[in-house]
Amino acid sequence: MPRQVEIFEVGPRDGLQNEAREIPLAEKIALVDCLSKAGFRRIEVASFVSPKWVPQMASSDQVLAGITRVRGVRYCALTPNLRGFEAAQKAKADEVAIFASASEGFSKANINASIAESLARFVPVMAAAQAAGIPVRGYVSCVTDCPYDGKTSPAQAAYVADQLYRMGCYEISLGDTIGQATPESIMNMLAAVCDVVPAQKLAGHYHDTAGRAFENIEASLAHGLRVFDAAVGGLGGCPYAPGAKGNVATEAAHDRLISLGYETGLDRRQLDEAAAMARAMRNQG
Ligand code: HMG
Ligand code: MG
Repeated sequence: MPRQVEIFEVGPRDGLQNEAREIPLAEKIALVDCLSKAGFRRIEVASFVSPKWVPQMASSDQVLAGITRVRGVRYCALTPNLRGFEAAQKAKADEVAIFASASEGFSKANINASIAESLARFVPVMAAAQAAGIPVRGYVSCVTDCPYDGKTSPAQAAYVADQLYRMGCYEISLGDTIGQATPESIMNMLAAVCDVVPAQKLAGHYHDTAGRAFENIEASLAHGLRVFDAAVGGLGGCPYAPGAKGNVATEAAHDRLISLGYETGLDRRQLDEAAAMARAMRNQG
């Protein structure tokens, strides 16, 4: 009996946000339109953050306006504050994500706020989203390792995941932001997080800096996780996490999951086309 795993595509956001070259709007739209035909249920395509902090995402409203929406696909956007939420709503994002960190160092570097300040900032975002009927996903970055503070304790990752879940996030995505996690650190972190958030409400968001993302996915599958974030062509990184490489590549994650006896519902040929497009976008940098 095949088991289902969902790959949540983050390439157009997490992937492209870190590219140094200013990517033309038409290329961003073409990548999303190609991905829309691959069978994803959710694609993160936009980020309504300060353009001074992440210039590449400044055209997010135009991306959402320009794509050809496919029925059954939810087009998602990052929203760090109420202003970002209002912009995402205006641009007709189908769902939004708030993003916190399990470590203070990354929280400060990424969103210029302590963890407590960021959680307080998300309360009005959640209220506005709930009033508008827009689902909110929650990210926790640096769940095992932080580029500024070193190792993150599992208890700290669990604390922030719990806070976002209690606030109303329908799913919590656990970020190995700099790709330094090991199956052991993932298992330890998940043992703590699964005590407060059910495994079916968690996603693994593993950057592949040290080439261990597959092992970390397998460790997470053993813990009951069935959603993994990935970026087509292995695009990406985070501008505020020095050394962070791309998310695990979607097409490779798909192949690994199939070899383990899972189904993803994705069209491999369409993934190849999108991966080629993503690699071409990167190589022009
Ligand atoms: P701040 O400087 O503390 O806040 O930034 P501020 O309120 O003083 O605003 C600064 C400027 O930004 C002002 O403009 C605001 O108007 C403007 P100015 O007066 O200087 O001209 N501003 C905005 N503009 C557009 N949209 C907004 C917005 N809010 C304020 N929503 C802030 C705080 C959160 C805005 C800033 O730190 C920021 O934008 N950070 C985003 C950083 C980011 O996008 N990082 C990458 C995404 S996270 C990630 O990749 C990790 C993840 O993949 C998971 C993982 O891998 O772990 C999700
Ligand atoms: Mg990321």
